[in-house]
Amino acid sequence: MLEQKMKIALNQQVNAELWSSYLYLSMSYDMGGKGYEGMASWFAAQAKEEFEHAGRFMKFIGEREGKVKLMPIEAVKQTWDTPKDAFEDTLKHEKIVTEKIHKLMDMAVELKDYATQNMLKWFIDEQVEEEDAVRNILEKLQRIESSPAGLYALDKQLGKRGND
Ligand SMILES: [Fe+2]
Ligand SMILES: [Fe+2]
Repeated sequence: MLEQKMKIALNQQVNAELWSSYLYLSMSYDMGGKGYEGMASWFAAQAKEEFEHAGRFMKFIGEREGKVKLMPIEAVKQTWDTPKDAFEDTLKHEKIVTEKIHKLMDMAVELKDYATQNMLKWFIDEQVEEEDAVRNILEKLQRIESSPAGLYALDKQLGKRGND
């Protein structure tokens, strides 16, 4: 059984993961609308992953005899001036999520909830990977500045996510 406090916090994380999915979906449509089809598909893949993260938390809550409480998902931003802005927001957001995961871990440690600690380990590794991937894209974006040819090449490369 999950302690009440842990259950509430995990349910809040379900909402945070769904909000992340919503945010990347919004970025996906915005980038697609601006002609960056590769980035649109990169963000769509990202949105799908966040939805799966929510699923992992929901499954875990259910397995620990908790009730999943789905809460309203807050509105997200609709438009970004440049791909760099979108990826900067992505990194900012992922850092916030990393902090949230770490706080959940602190709580699980404090409550001696070993099963939750184990489940959270996967997310701790996942956050390291996600932040690293986004940081790499941002470095490339900084290098090409606003060169149309550079942006075109990067867009093509990002469109390959999931296909290689
Ligand atoms: Fe996530
Ligand atoms: Fe994420």
